[in-house]
Amino acid sequence: MVRSAILLGLVGFSAVWAHTEPKTEAEIETQRALQRAAYYCAPAVGEFTAARKRAWRQQVLSGLPLNQAAFAPPSIPSAGNPSLPTNDDLFASETYESAGQSSLSKHQELLACDVVEDETEMQNNTCVLTPIVTEGPYYHKMGHPIRQNIAEYEIGLLTYLDIGVIDVNTCKPLPNVLVDIWQANSTGYYAGHNADSSLVLAQPQVGGRRSGLLSAFPRNDFKDQWLRGAWKTDSHGIARFTTIFPGYYTGRATHIHSKVFTEWTENPNGTFDGRKLAHVGQFFFEDDLNLQIDKMWPYSENPIRDIRGRTRNWRDSLNIFEDSQGPEGQYDPIFKMHLLGGVINQGLVGFITMGINASYEMDNFWKG
Ligand SMILES: *[C@@H]1O[C@H](CO)[C@@H](O)[C@H](O)[C@H]1NC(C)=O
Ligand SMILES: *[C@@H]1O[C@H](CO)[C@@H](O)[C@H](O)[C@H]1NC(C)=O
Ligand SMILES: *[C@@H]1O[C@H](CO)[C@@H](O)[C@H](O)[C@H]1NC(C)=O
Ligand SMILES: *[C@@H]1O[C@H](CO)[C@@H](O)[C@H](O)[C@H]1NC(C)=O
Repeated sequence: MVRSAILLGLVGFSAVWAHTEPKTEAEIETQRALQRAAYYCAPAVGEFTAARKRAWRQQVLSGLPLNQAAFAPPSIPSAGNPSLPTNDDLFASETYESAGQSSLSKHQELLACDVVEDETEMQNNTCVLTPIVTEGPYYHKMGHPIRQNIAEYEIGLLTYLDIGVIDVNTCKPLPNVLVDIWQANSTGYYAGHNADSSLVLAQPQVGGRRSGLLSAFPRNDFKDQWLRGAWKTDSHGIARFTTIFPGYYTGRATHIHSKVFTEWTENPNGTFDGRKLAHVGQFFFEDDLNLQIDKMWPYSENPIRDIRGRTRNWRDSLNIFEDSQGPEGQYDPIFKMHLLGGVINQGLVGFITMGINASYEMDNFWKG
């Protein structure tokens, strides 16, 4: 029974691959338009990221455990510490107003992708936007819980994600959209897609588009949803998550998947059904950081460590890392990571901003 389900799964997956990539001229043109629009937003994105980093810093300095400080629901604004500033206090409403308005009147200058200072960390990465790329074979159309902490009992390096969403039509942060993310655990598996060793140790595809990849591991568990979850952006266009740093698997650079829904329905059991999908993308991490984390347990227990090892960003299969730079290479799909404490083992916080077209309504590239 289980066996035939696996076989069916594999046949289904390989048949779908052939026509799932957004590579027609029309699709590339859509990407280009998005990118041009996003480029105008660069200063606004810079302000946005700088404000988020300031907010984090203040929350960290306030001394409250981070998960309370950053993730306390609005109903418990200070979670036991009456002086703790909330996001609403930390984000001045003028922050985006000025940036957004000036960007509309000064397109020419903005093309330079102005650097907005944020102490030493903010480099030429104000165009931190992620284009549309494939959702891959591990999305679950139903069952993703609405929650900020997606880690459950998975073991790994504490990682907070601070994901900002701006609408490229306005260069303004986009509140009240649902950011849905999913990722592999520290040894490279997705919830619901356990694999027996014959699959893990199989030979990857040689040559062709899928070079370096294994067949997708079929879904063989319908309960597990760890490292999957969705959260609505707040009034500042930010969705924050608590998770663990993702592990790697055959053929893919380390990444986290995302979708953004502008309409959805919440189910009584805490999951949601997506209605309008505006964006599908993947986020990455610097290879240097990946290589450091590879040395930490349990990342060091990755079943392919000694046979194939990790895939570097530039070797990513299906060109996904490359495509994530956009058609003209202007996007930056890499999280800007900061240490939470004095040493890496205390965890990380990562910032990224997605520039999406909120009026866009797309079909899923991959019918999972
Ligand atoms: C956003 O999507 C809408 C609807 O498809 C389209 O008319 C508009 O040109 C898009 N905007 C950008 C900046 O791509
Ligand atoms: C920043 O990036 C933009 C876009 O890639 C480029 O045109 C510009 O020259 C860069 N500026 C600096 C200071 O590196
Ligand atoms: C990751 O998930 C797989 C599949 O469920 C599991 O076998 C493995 O033990 C998990 N890794 C860790 C470090 O728990
Ligand atoms: C949650 O509810 C939805 C909609 O009623 C249903 O499709 C889904 O199977 C339920 N999931 C769980 C884990 O109960």
